[in-house]
Amino acid sequence: MGSSWPCCCWQRIEMGPAWSQLVRPCSPKPALLLASLLLTAGLALADAVASCPVLCTCRSQVVDCSSQRLFSVPPDLPLDTRNLSLAHNRIATVPPGYLTCYGELRVLDLRNNSLVELPPGLFLHAKRLAHLDLSYNNFSHVPADMFVEARGLLRIDLSHNPWLRKVHPKAFQGLSQLRELDLSYGGLAFLSLEALEGLPGLVTLQIGGNPWVCGCTMEPLLKWLRNRIQRCTADSQLAECRGPPEVEGAPLFSLTEESFKACHLTLTLDDYLFIAFVGFVVSIASVATNFLLGITANCCHRWNKASEEEEI
Ligand SMILES: *[C@@H]1O[C@H](CO)[C@@H](O)[C@H](O)[C@H]1NC(C)=O
Ligand SMILES: *[C@@H]1O[C@H](CO)[C@@H](O)[C@H](O)[C@H]1NC(C)=O
Ligand SMILES: *[C@@H]1O[C@H](CO)[C@@H](O)[C@H](O)[C@H]1NC(C)=O
Repeated sequence: MGSSWPCCCWQRIEMGPAWSQLVRPCSPKPALLLASLLLTAGLALADAVASCPVLCTCRSQVVDCSSQRLFSVPPDLPLDTRNLSLAHNRIATVPPGYLTCYGELRVLDLRNNSLVELPPGLFLHAKRLAHLDLSYNNFSHVPADMFVEARGLLRIDLSHNPWLRKVHPKAFQGLSQLRELDLSYGGLAFLSLEALEGLPGLVTLQIGGNPWVCGCTMEPLLKWLRNRIQRCTADSQLAECRGPPEVEGAPLFSLTEESFKACHLTLTLDDYLFIAFVGFVVSIASVATNFLLGITANCCHRWNKASEEEEI
């Protein structure tokens, strides 16, 4: 994973303790390199003076590369970067392992780019990442375990991804600290309850502006939301049903048990037991009937034979 990405930190991991004697492969400034090599604690200095990428501004652990028409992510950020903004660019992919070096990263802003997906394992070393903004991109689905390594996430913004149709039931698995989730203005017609159920810390949920289809499959989620609404702010006014026709335009949270009555006109357990019982009785009866018919036929046959013999 990520071996193609020219990352010093990556190579440090691969090369082990011998790294400090090696030339830093991704540092663009030989003079600084030399200085760092001259020091026994060269690592610390190298980290502190890592240069700022062109087109970005770097100040007190904040790296701002927003609105620079970037088509790819800038390499070699200062290793102590805390806030990284790549917003309002045209970035279509993030290389795997891109964040490996930046263990201090708290805020990653990728808003308003052309991202379709993130590489697996991107957050493997981003243990401190708390805020992730992926809004205004082109994500079509949120796969299982997309954020699983970023256990410290407090906020995920996936809003305004108009092609976002699917959120895997295990998409947000393991995010026990997540407080804010924004899924508004996507293309979601359905969301499974399982996707949200495992988020004990959720305080704010935004789901408005999606073409929700409030059919029977949505009932568990809506029921759960209604029960949780006291503890969880949701954009209830904005979330509307796009279908089925009977509830088109109705606010999601206006739907009651009554709205889903038709979903429960199906058979209950008692009905199934009754059917099974009747089936059982019928099959027993048919076996018995066959048995009796068989005996009768046999008797008739013998009786016939006996009378024929008598006649002869
Ligand atoms: C870093 O980002 C967070 C969240 O967006 C923001 O609240 C904070 O002010 C930023 N820090 C700096 C120094 O810009
Ligand atoms: C997205 O970024 C472009 C520049 O790349 C800008 O013109 C546009 O206003 C931005 N859109 C939003 C919603 O911020
Ligand atoms: C976004 O993705 C869809 C397919 O999922 C594609 O048709 C569309 O052109 C993409 N839009 C942009 C701006 O990349």
